[in-house]
Amino acid sequence: MTESPTTPQEALPLLQVEQVSVRRNRTEVIRDVNLEIYPGEFVGIVGPNGGGKSTLIQAILGLLKCQSGHVLVAGKPPMSKAVFGKIAWVSQAAAYLPQNVRLTVRELVGMGLLNNKNWFSPITSSTSRVDDAIQMVGLEHLANRDVNQLSGGERQRAVIARALASGAEFLLLDEPLVGMDRASRNSLLKLLDSFCHDQNKTILMISHDIAAMRQTAHRMIYLEETIRFDGPPPHFPSLEELALMRGIEDVHGGHHHDHSAEHCGGGDHSFSVSVYPPKGG
Ligand SMILES: Nc1ncnc2c1ncn2[C@@H]1O[C@H](COP(=O)(O)OP(=O)(O)OP(=O)(O)O)[C@@H](O)[C@H]1O
Ligand SMILES: [Mg+2]
Repeated sequence: MTESPTTPQEALPLLQVEQVSVRRNRTEVIRDVNLEIYPGEFVGIVGPNGGGKSTLIQAILGLLKCQSGHVLVAGKPPMSKAVFGKIAWVSQAAAYLPQNVRLTVRELVGMGLLNNKNWFSPITSSTSRVDDAIQMVGLEHLANRDVNQLSGGERQRAVIARALASGAEFLLLDEPLVGMDRASRNSLLKLLDSFCHDQNKTILMISHDIAAMRQTAHRMIYLEETIRFDGPPPHFPSLEELALMRGIEDVHGGHHHDHSAEHCGGGDHSFSVSVYPPKGG
């Protein structure tokens, strides 16, 4: 990613999150979240474990109720009919498919075509959409393979192909890179980027891989209870700045040694880590 596309301000936002707070188990896990995403944007969310990333996505989908504030997708509440089929979600656990179900890649991807209209009738048409999606993620050679015989990365691709087959314009991806090797990650990220540029798809993707996100996303968000950074990847704070934002003291007592690798803001070094220790111990 070299150019950073300007936000198409003349378009209407595809996603509007206004002053959203969500409680789980009586604890407020995200608060005062404000976010607008425009068609064709590729937005990456990073943040500590338990920071509320998956919660935000579930609130966007309408799966979790907002304690305050509201979410609009294409100007409508997320669970409304008008939104149905516009959003595809690849959940954090999506690649952990049930072991006891026998399903080929093509069958799994075909499930992406199911919607409220055809749920009870077998899908006969649109198989080309399934094949297109399988091809897009590069799994043609495995289309008839049992999904349980795939590698983690291949399974991840199959799950993403299912989202693509749905034809949704807004893809919400929760940690889709987990379990993938570097080469698969890179090609998947390129693929996702091309969806935004060529098909005007909109992507909101959670990842712990800050380096990968910096190289691919058009915009990055740091979420820890609330949005603490929202801007172009080159402006994303360094790990030290993030630590300061989180109130973590420097264990070296303020003696700064400037390892460039400690900055997610510099260079093209690549690290893929859960950078932040889990919250609360
Ligand atoms: N089903 C649940 N019921 C109650 N609390 C939950 C539930 N899921 C998550 N939480 C809590 O909500 C907070 C935010 O969790 P969330 O899963 O949104 O974080 P996350 O940023 O996605 O973390 P991770 O990077 O580990 O996936 C955490 O404190 C978590 O313990
Ligand atoms: Mg999560």
